[in-house]
Amino acid sequence: MQVSFEKIDQSYGNQTLFSQLDLEIPSGQFFTLLGPSGCGKTTLLRMLAGFVRPDAGRVRFGNDDVTSVPVHHRGVGIVFQDYALFPDRSVQANVAYGLLARRVPKAEATDRAAAMLKRVGLEAFKDRAPAALSGGQRQRVAMARALVIKPRLLLLDEPLSALDVKLRVELRCMIRELQQEAGITTVFVTHDQEEALAMSDQIAVMDRGQIVQIGTPQEIYVQPRTAFAADFVGNANLIPILEELPAAGGGTRRLRTPVGTLFTNSHAPCLPGALLAVRCAEILLHTPGTTQDGKVPGVIQHVEYRGSTVGYTIQTAIGSLHVDTWASQNAQLRQRGDAVALEIPHSAHIVEGRPC
Ligand SMILES: Nc1ncnc2c1ncn2[C@@H]1O[C@H](COP(=O)(O)OP(=O)(O)OP(=O)(O)O)[C@@H](O)[C@H]1O
Ligand SMILES: [Mg+2]
Repeated sequence: MQVSFEKIDQSYGNQTLFSQLDLEIPSGQFFTLLGPSGCGKTTLLRMLAGFVRPDAGRVRFGNDDVTSVPVHHRGVGIVFQDYALFPDRSVQANVAYGLLARRVPKAEATDRAAAMLKRVGLEAFKDRAPAALSGGQRQRVAMARALVIKPRLLLLDEPLSALDVKLRVELRCMIRELQQEAGITTVFVTHDQEEALAMSDQIAVMDRGQIVQIGTPQEIYVQPRTAFAADFVGNANLIPILEELPAAGGGTRRLRTPVGTLFTNSHAPCLPGALLAVRCAEILLHTPGTTQDGKVPGVIQHVEYRGSTVGYTIQTAIGSLHVDTWASQNAQLRQRGDAVALEIPHSAHIVEGRPC
């Protein structure tokens, strides 16, 4: 089922959160709302669930206007960050609850709940109370409870953020599998860019109540439209562009920047205030030679050894730039104080500056 927001306005006191917001979520997709704290992700999700009614505008499920349909008539499954299981009921009873509330006969509810618990690997835990489960197990119960009713729409609000990293990776795999098996339209809220890239069909990047870009994970990562999207999704270095110079040939564009002439194969327009976004992992470090176009001189400020990669913070004429390199086992790490030349790759992308 396709889901859409049409011309949504929402204010709290004298603070406008959404103004004429439009968004379409295609049927069957795993669609992620990604953005920093306070940008309005949960509020949009709560509008889909029916907990928040917008000041103006419509929410549609397919062609149906559900703006004033109450929560219990929307047929949505919801999983929150903090589990929200009934503490005084068993795991089995938690999962069967939504079915019994929908007047599914008891025997069928028991069977369906048991099958769902088996699917999430918790059949052996069915008689336990939620308090006797780990955080990851509780989130599996919450997923089972949301899916067992065969909802039209699945809403997930940061369901993994209370878990440790290893468990998060494991559970995100399971959530994606369950979503694909059910073919259910899913709206997932997170402020974790890696999670968004790993799980989504499409991502909407949000900034202060606005949707700044919608695209597949690859589109968002490779071709961010704004400096905000480039930095929020994948931590980019942002270099100011002073002007575009006559092209170098072969489709490569030349840019004058405060750290010298740099090159890019980006097709994006170079508007006033544009920046060059460069991924930390795409910069190559060299020992400095004579100054050359495409290379930025710098001095290493900080070295962070992470096992498979090494992160360097490098002082340049425009402040610190960040570089991630693979750590080969025998190679000497560069040291704090070393002079280096940063080779800026042609994959660097032109982005719009963040409007103030
Ligand atoms: N009921 C409310 N009353 C007043 N302000 C609210 C209310 N609900 C949300 N807001 C405000 O709207 C903004 C967006 O809130 P929302 O919870 O949607 O953000 P979020 O993107 O989910 O953030 P987080 O990542 O921290 O969960 C915030 O500034 C918040 O304070
Ligand atoms: Mg939130």
